[in-house]
Amino acid sequence: RILILDFGSQVTQLIARRVREAGVYCEIMPFNTDAKRIKEFDPKGIILSGSPHSVTTEDGPRAPSQVWDSKLPVFGICYGEQTMCAQLGGEVHGSDHREFGRATLQIKEDAALFDGVWKPGDTDQVWMSHGDRVVRLPEGFKVVAVSDGAPYAAIANEARKYYAVQFHPEVVHTPRGAALIKNFVTKICGCKADWTMAAYKESMIAKIRAQVGSGKVICGLSGGVDSSVAAVLIHEAIGDQLTCIFVDHGLLRGGEAEQVVTLFRDNYNIPLVHRDASDLFLGELKSVTDPETKRKIIGRLFIDVFDEEAHKIGGAQFLAQGTLYPDVIESVSFTGGPSVTIKSHHNVGGLPERMNLKLVEPLRELFKDEVRALGRELGLPEKMIRRHPFPGPGLAIRIPGDITPEKLDILRKADAIYLEEIDKAGLYDQIWQAFAVLLPVKTVGVMGDGRTYDHVCALRAVTSTDGMTADFYPFEPALLGRMATRIVNEVKGINRVVYDYTSKPPGTIEWE
Ligand code: XMP
Repeated sequence: RILILDFGSQVTQLIARRVREAGVYCEIMPFNTDAKRIKEFDPKGIILSGSPHSVTTEDGPRAPSQVWDSKLPVFGICYGEQTMCAQLGGEVHGSDHREFGRATLQIKEDAALFDGVWKPGDTDQVWMSHGDRVVRLPEGFKVVAVSDGAPYAAIANEARKYYAVQFHPEVVHTPRGAALIKNFVTKICGCKADWTMAAYKESMIAKIRAQVGSGKVICGLSGGVDSSVAAVLIHEAIGDQLTCIFVDHGLLRGGEAEQVVTLFRDNYNIPLVHRDASDLFLGELKSVTDPETKRKIIGRLFIDVFDEEAHKIGGAQFLAQGTLYPDVIESVSFTGGPSVTIKSHHNVGGLPERMNLKLVEPLRELFKDEVRALGRELGLPEKMIRRHPFPGPGLAIRIPGDITPEKLDILRKADAIYLEEIDKAGLYDQIWQAFAVLLPVKTVGVMGDGRTYDHVCALRAVTSTDGMTADFYPFEPALLGRMATRIVNEVKGINRVVYDYTSKPPGTIEWE
């Protein structure tokens, strides 16, 4: 296993992705993690991430001395190179000039890190993003590659197995970067490439059995990938000690509730309580227009109903949750201070405390695409595995203004047509999320010989890697035209369609 020490770079998670893609397990810990924890983790090598910080300032973050005392191989990336140099006796200078973007790397010498990737004389594209630069190397190091802006683009101390690069091997703009990371973890650190989903599944099943014993587990199912994979995995581990609760708030897309029930009850034989609470939710949401109020009502009712169903089942000691690794990585923040609440997210947070349950979180070590791979390993249908994320409050936050059964019906029809067209065009997997929004605005139109006065439907599609930032998806105008025509022709109640060209930031993905 490999330890990645995070100095606060935006792309530290990508380093972890590359290490795991090389078949080696790794975890990310903050740069100031205490020595005991690192020792317990017992890594075979350490990677130092990039950082928005400068090593030239007094209070710039440093790797703990244990990193250098441990005799383990170390790979410094960008800031990681600078702090390696600064801490081992080299010199780093600040500069007003930031080097950012594509650069051409020229290989000067052989290095174990380059084995099978580059040899002296080769040139290749890499991605740079740095302000400070190394000006003198610590003893025992040599320069193995340069670029126009970085005379110390890659350095090595082969005797100590220390390597460092000024560029970012973890991003796709450094095409051979993944191969470098693989070299480091497998050849230099000697890790076996045996981190596979099949192996993970078996070890997780054993862990769940050990944790749960003969106890009862309840699991909230939403129809999304994470809770589904968690439920099927736990069921494989402990069978009918697991009961799933599916709170149907009446704000799902067309046919979704039936699909959840069929898949889990009929295909997997998992005990499932399906509580249709749509009347309750829609009743309490009646005439509510404020987005935060909607979210709070849905969150509160969800917990009430879930709690009620759990009590009916009785005797549960554990609550299963589909928490993912990005949610549990301790973030390194240099800005401090509380961040503002943009939207209050609704999930089952708050439930375990209230119900006095222990958590079972079999996905907390996984990234989203690893959860998908695990889902495939468990035989979940491809359609379910590929699904876009869907927000907990469902269609309620895609109908600005008050929510009525009629509006929900209109939105479901428009959304289904939109997604069908995206699927037909083969674009579904290139998009992070795509959905229709029903606006509380009515406009005038003409159909046949008659005047219409109906709702506007907005279409949204974005690309993203984690939902934190997003770009609008650039559909071909002809395709947008086909979608608009179909929606206006086929959905009574909509006579105009617009496309949302806002990225995040400044927009958010959902409209509320
Ligand atoms: P925003 O709209 O904040 O959305 O850019 C970011 C991602 O989060 C999803 N989302 C939610 N997911 N409960 C959830 O489980 C929520 O309350 C919620 N609100 C937004 C949104 O769909 C996008 O993927």
